[in-house]
Amino acid sequence: MNIDLKILNTNEKLSKYFVEEYSINEKPISISFRKLIPKLNNKNKYTHLIHSYPAKLIPHIPNFFLNNNYFSKKEDLVLDPFCGTGTVLLEAMISGRNAIGADANPLAQLITKVKTTYLTIEILELYFKLIISSYKKLRKPEIPDVINKDFWFPLVNQKKLGLIKRAINKTTNGEIQDFFLICFSNCVKKVSYADPIVAVPVKLNPKRYPEGSSKNIKAIRRINNIKTIDVFALFKSICINNMHRINTLQNLNNNIKIISKDARKLTKSLITNELIKDESVDLIITSPPYAGAQKYIRSSSLNLGWLGLAKSNELKLLDKKNIGRENYTKGELKKIKTGIYNADKLLEKIYSINKLRAYIVGNYLIEIMSALDESIRVLKKNSYLILIIGNNKVSNFEFNTQQYLTEYLVSKKLSLKFKLIDDIKSYGLMTKRNKTADIISREWIIVFKKHM
Ligand SMILES: C[S@@+](CC[C@H](N)C(=O)[O-])C[C@H]1O[C@@H](n2cnc3c(N)ncnc32)[C@H](O)[C@@H]1O
Repeated sequence: MNIDLKILNTNEKLSKYFVEEYSINEKPISISFRKLIPKLNNKNKYTHLIHSYPAKLIPHIPNFFLNNNYFSKKEDLVLDPFCGTGTVLLEAMISGRNAIGADANPLAQLITKVKTTYLTIEILELYFKLIISSYKKLRKPEIPDVINKDFWFPLVNQKKLGLIKRAINKTTNGEIQDFFLICFSNCVKKVSYADPIVAVPVKLNPKRYPEGSSKNIKAIRRINNIKTIDVFALFKSICINNMHRINTLQNLNNNIKIISKDARKLTKSLITNELIKDESVDLIITSPPYAGAQKYIRSSSLNLGWLGLAKSNELKLLDKKNIGRENYTKGELKKIKTGIYNADKLLEKIYSINKLRAYIVGNYLIEIMSALDESIRVLKKNSYLILIIGNNKVSNFEFNTQQYLTEYLVSKKLSLKFKLIDDIKSYGLMTKRNKTADIISREWIIVFKKHM
């Protein structure tokens, strides 16, 4: 980054610089948000680490745009239509804004809710003790319908998880229950045979790694230890860490709400079909799913099952509502036209090589465009929409998602203010396919303004 930060010492000044620089050069500006806001590099701030999730946004990016009167002011309403685990919503809360979010994954909805709900430490400690004493007395576990549970969990761990779940449900309800269920959910994968370094459940297999390498040794050790893990001790330690995290929310504005399960239909709440009003939102910051790169429902399938949020036969239906999904039947694979000139040219080429890939990314664009329409509808005039998105490779072509979405939004009369590029440090949760798709290596942060 070639910017003298000493002169541009406020986020507002830096934002003005980005706008001016981009209006002259029309070139994306490279920036490292981790260097810009190093105090956030220790991510254990507030409740950001309350639960793991694929492709979480780094808090630095919303932090920069929210602690910044250039884009919004205190008490304004911020929307993240693809809120995942609520990184944007939490940062909005910290910066004194109100916020609403949508997500198609019930696990993400629950994490966001818990992450942004303050509960006193005294109450949490009280219920924590009740859960511990209930667990000790219980004999009969509550084991829900979890996909392939005998494949993923040793019986002894299933029993312990089932006893914890029962103890939580027996002793708590409402927001307190949600908090302990999120702690419980964060245990689930850790006591399974799933490889902890892969987002989607893949059974631990030491042979995936070179013999004698540290990953190989760790995998062997994990398989040997999994049956003897003290599941309840793990649950307790997660609870203790999370109770401290929740305590940091004290004194923060608490007007944060999940309003919808579909970015294409922003309803007033999860239980109504009534849409939120046109032009009612002051700022949108969002990192939408990437085209065919993450499998949110599959990655969450064990948690969704244990939490009782989705039975094994309901997972497919949930996946169908996910933008960026990869599972289509042969009958669905028709040629897609998006109306975005460059995207359509590339889709033709991909179609001739791989019909499924062409359909995945073509349909992705159609669905994202529909979500962007809904975002434009609810955004107030003279307000900003900030997209954080990456490109990926499809059948060895670069699929320039950021450019296609820019073309689309400009065609909808939004003005492009500036583009930033930041390198992604960890792509832990992207799917790497050597032949037909590729990992995403950098993020584009694109700022638009709605005028009319
Ligand atoms: C890149 S992630 C967002 C991560 C989030 N910024 C965070 O920090 O946790 C994209 C999210 O879009 C969600 N999603 C996919 N299809 C959706 C839809 N139709 N409506 C709303 N959310 C959707 C996925 O479930 C996923 O949580």
